[in-house]
Formats: sequence, C-alpha cells, structure tokens
Amino acid sequence: MTTATKLQHYPVMLYEVTQVLINNPAGTYLDCTFGGGGHSRHFLEEFPNIQLYAIDRDPDAWKRAEELKREFPRNFFFECMPFSTLDRLGVKVFSGVLFDFGISSIQLDDAERGFSFRYHMPLDMRMNPKQGMSAQEFLKTASREQLIEAICDFGEEAQGRRIVDLILKNRGSEVLEFADTFADLIAQHCPRSGKIHPATKTFQGIRIAVNHELEEIQQALPKAFERLQPGGRLVVLSFHSLEDRIVKQFWRKMETSSRAKSLTPKPILPPPEEVKMNLRSRSAKLRILEKFQ
Ligand SMILES: C[S@@+](CC[C@H](N)C(=O)[O-])C[C@H]1O[C@@H](n2cnc3c(N)ncnc32)[C@H](O)[C@@H]1O
Repeated sequence: MTTATKLQHYPVMLYEVTQVLINNPAGTYLDCTFGGGGHSRHFLEEFPNIQLYAIDRDPDAWKRAEELKREFPRNFFFECMPFSTLDRLGVKVFSGVLFDFGISSIQLDDAERGFSFRYHMPLDMRMNPKQGMSAQEFLKTASREQLIEAICDFGEEAQGRRIVDLILKNRGSEVLEFADTFADLIAQHCPRSGKIHPATKTFQGIRIAVNHELEEIQQALPKAFERLQPGGRLVVLSFHSLEDRIVKQFWRKMETSSRAKSLTPKPILPPPEEVKMNLRSRSAKLRILEKFQ
C-alpha cells in the first residue's frame, strides 16, 4: 500500500461545478479526472438517480473508485484509462462531461510518485507509472530542444535555458535522479526571492512533457463534445495558461461552427474563501460549453 491511500485532495469549486454540470437529476455523466473522487462523490450524494462514469489514467485512483463503487454499486462505473481514449467507452451519450486538469494533491504529496521536490525519491512524475517515460529518463535522454520545450514553454520558466544547460552539464550524475537533489541544483544556480520554490516551474514543465498533458487535452475535448447529447455541457477546470488556451480555442471553434455556445465569456474563478482554504484553487478557471439542441 502506498501512502497515497491516506492522502487527501480537496475538490476545486465543488458547488459551482455541480451546479453547472448536473442539469438533469436522472442524467448520465462522465468525470474524466476522477482523482480523489471528491467531485464524483458529491454528484452521487446530491443526485442519487444519476448514472456516473468516471475515468483516470492513474491506477491508484482505481482503489479509491472501488470504495465509491461499493457505496453506489448500481450507478457508478470506473475505468482506468487516459481521457484521450474516452471514445472507447461503451456509453455513447452523456448529459455532461467534467475535466479537472493536472494532478491531485494525493499524487503530489505521495513521496513515491516523485512529483514533489520535498522528497528524496526517484524523479518519476508519471500519472500512470506503468506507461511512458519517467522524468528521470526524460532528463537523461531528451534533446536540448525537448528540454527547452518542457521547461521554457510548458513550465514558462524565465531562466529555462540556464536550467537546460545545467541539466546537460550534469548528465550522468546522480543529482538528476532524485526529486530533492534536482530541485536543490536548480535552487543553487537560479536562486529566486519570493515564496515559490525556484524549481516549481521546471517541475511543472517536465510533468506536462512526460505525461503529454497538452496533447491529451487536445485529443479529448472534441471526443467529449461528440458524446454530449443536445443541451449537454462540457465543464472544464484548468490551472495553467496553456491548458486554458486549448480550452478557449476549442470553445471558439465550436461557437464559430454554430454547434455550441460558451456559458462563460469570462471564466468563473474560485471565491476568495476557497482560495484561503485551499491554495491549489488559486489558479483555477472554470469554463462551460453547452451543445446546441
Ligand atoms: C486535479 S485531479 C482531479 C481531482 C478530482 N476532481 C477530485 O475531486 O478528487 C486530476 C486527475 O486527473 C487525472 N488525469 C490527468 N490527466 C489525465 C488524462 N490524460 N487521462 C486520465 N486521467 C488524467 C490525474 O491522474 C488526476 O488523478
């Protein structure tokens, strides 16, 4: 058993999301990012007559989904899969689909997953540790251009090129193998004033690269839209400007082709009380797209 089972994730904008997603108390819904199951659990408790399908690419999420399945055996279903493959689900039509991008606090705080620079653990950062390349492998093998894309573009790290040079200079050293030693290396060479750790953006960029997060979103949004019934809604929580850009572009494309309307000309932001209670919510943006009848 990993420590993940004891960790917790606070669902972001829980009431706002529930209110806009569930427009039919007997509808069929899809939660594409089950995570700790906070959103899913709330939907089922508030609307016991819905059918809820949930997916997550992280095999640890499956254990939490099993618990929910025991409580709601007739109307909760879970599949461990990346959301880019949601077209493989047997159910063809949903009243609403939710995406809550990124990783959960459970994944971040689980030392063994290698997402956090707080721990002396192998740098892994894969949402599914059985698939794809770990962050450690990525640092060992990526070309200069791939490192620049990850750290400068995905991480939006202003000192990205300096950090890429550091990585290339330290190739072969154990320093690049562990989360804390890699973060210390960055902190030594690129110190920064302010509250956030100097390695934060680099870690975020590498995480986005090894999990192909932006491609996943690009592929999943049109597939989710195709499975919406008329009047159904796509509800998305993004936490990063690159995620949000893909969402906005997709909304615009559907609006200009007269297939849907955006219900959020401006994104809905979390209330200040929530940000105070759950710092992770501070960068959240909620956008809603409704398919035409
Ligand atoms: C922010 S958390 C979701 C938290 C959840 N809404 C809750 O209330 O606990 C994001 C989850 O989405 C999953 N995820 C991210 N990208 C994914 C993808 N491409 N396919 C499937 N799951 C993904 C992550 O593994 C993580 O568990």
